[in-house]
Amino acid sequence: MRRSARVAVIGLGYAGLPMALALAEAGFATLGLDRDTAKLARLMAGESGMRHVGAAALAAALRSRHFTATADWTRLDAVDAVLICVPTPLGPERQPDLSAVEAAARSVAWHLRPGQLVVLESTTWPGTTRQVVQPILEATGLRCGEDFFLAYSPEREDPGNAGFRTAGIPRVVGGADPNALHLAETLYGAVVERVVPVGSLETAEAVKLTENAFRAVNIALANELKLAFGAMGIDAWEVVAAAASKPFGFMPFWPGPGVGGHCIPVDPQYLAWKARAAGVPARFVELAGEINADMPFHVLTALEAALRARLGRGVAGSRILVLGAAYKPGIEDVRESPALRLIELIEAQGGDAPYHDPLVPELPCLPEHPGLAGRRSLPWAAALDCDAALIVTDHDEVDYAALCAAMPLVVDTRDACGRRGVRGSGIVKA
Ligand SMILES: NC(=O)c1ccc[n+]([C@@H]2O[C@H](COP(=O)([O-])OP(=O)(O)OC[C@H]3O[C@@H](n4cnc5c(N)ncnc54)[C@H](O)[C@@H]3O)[C@@H](O)[C@H]2O)c1
Repeated sequence: MRRSARVAVIGLGYAGLPMALALAEAGFATLGLDRDTAKLARLMAGESGMRHVGAAALAAALRSRHFTATADWTRLDAVDAVLICVPTPLGPERQPDLSAVEAAARSVAWHLRPGQLVVLESTTWPGTTRQVVQPILEATGLRCGEDFFLAYSPEREDPGNAGFRTAGIPRVVGGADPNALHLAETLYGAVVERVVPVGSLETAEAVKLTENAFRAVNIALANELKLAFGAMGIDAWEVVAAAASKPFGFMPFWPGPGVGGHCIPVDPQYLAWKARAAGVPARFVELAGEINADMPFHVLTALEAALRARLGRGVAGSRILVLGAAYKPGIEDVRESPALRLIELIEAQGGDAPYHDPLVPELPCLPEHPGLAGRRSLPWAAALDCDAALIVTDHDEVDYAALCAAMPLVVDTRDACGRRGVRGSGIVKA
């Protein structure tokens, strides 16, 4: 197949950049656009800013000249396909915030020309592509299905999971009409190993929400079981590990301190919001969100109890090392991380909560945690004289044996020590 189509990717973040690089690697002339000009400059200098997007992949794409990052939106005039990968966060009332999708669609509309394929990749509620993006594009006077083609294909990146490359992850694609579906299938089929076409835009949008609601609900179940079994004196991690020996009908999900990142705490809320609007509340999904959001409070209670039992005083006046600020191991993303919530909760109780994270040297400015912006990771040597450690994210880069040897108390929300064979009377699972 000739790779003569020119493709633009709007939004070069955790989802968009790997996709842009996969397109470039497949041989497409790929234009990366982003409103963050500092990020564009970093990318052109060969820095991805993301640990899981290796410098080698970016360097290869730049060297091949198949990938360029630019703030020159007029270059959209020359592309054949545009993929929109901008954020879809929650607003202040935890309602869907489509402002970035709308802004990106307006940018596309300015440069829309007959024959172009536009694909929304951002995770969103079913109906967004048809009800929100299509009218913005049609305001140009061009007609969907006649002049331009519209599709939806959800990103399925799993940052930090070295087991999967973008090209190896099957792509679900839905089109506004058969021609749009055919074009999108052809484009993605040239980049990824398998394309899964579905009957409509809305089905493709619903697939992504189903995948992440599935994870959110199962993590909530694991968290609930941790609390229930914990009250019975049973170790939930041991239970799940043993249950996972069943070769069928069971898939292990692990308890933890809560959920984080751009997907699991956010996407099910998009589903719940749309289901409520449709008059059929997604009660299970909403409950899962509540259980997961409550987990930092349970961890705080367990920390307080462990401190009192071991050290004779509670959180107030104690110096507790929060280990891991990222929302999951192996990455530097702190969005919605339960670690940040726990730092705030400990400090609200009168404790001191420095953090150590080998992948997060400094906390960025996040709207939900303005007071934490600019805080720096405590160097490992300075961290070891804290009263206790609270393991929130179990990066492999940490020496858990040294940690447990140095600390009178280690409260472990991930079974980080147990899974690495580190034992000790100072370790409390929570
Ligand atoms: N992070 C993940 O692991 C992941 C996985 C699958 C799907 N997704 C979905 O992909 C979408 C993007 O998420 P992300 O994690 O990549 O976000 P991100 O914040 O990492 O990246 C988004 C990028 O879009 C840019 N941007 C925002 N508004 C823009 C605009 N109007 N024009 C141009 N650029 C704009 C930002 O500057 C940023 O660089 C979301 O819908 C998310 O749910 C994310």
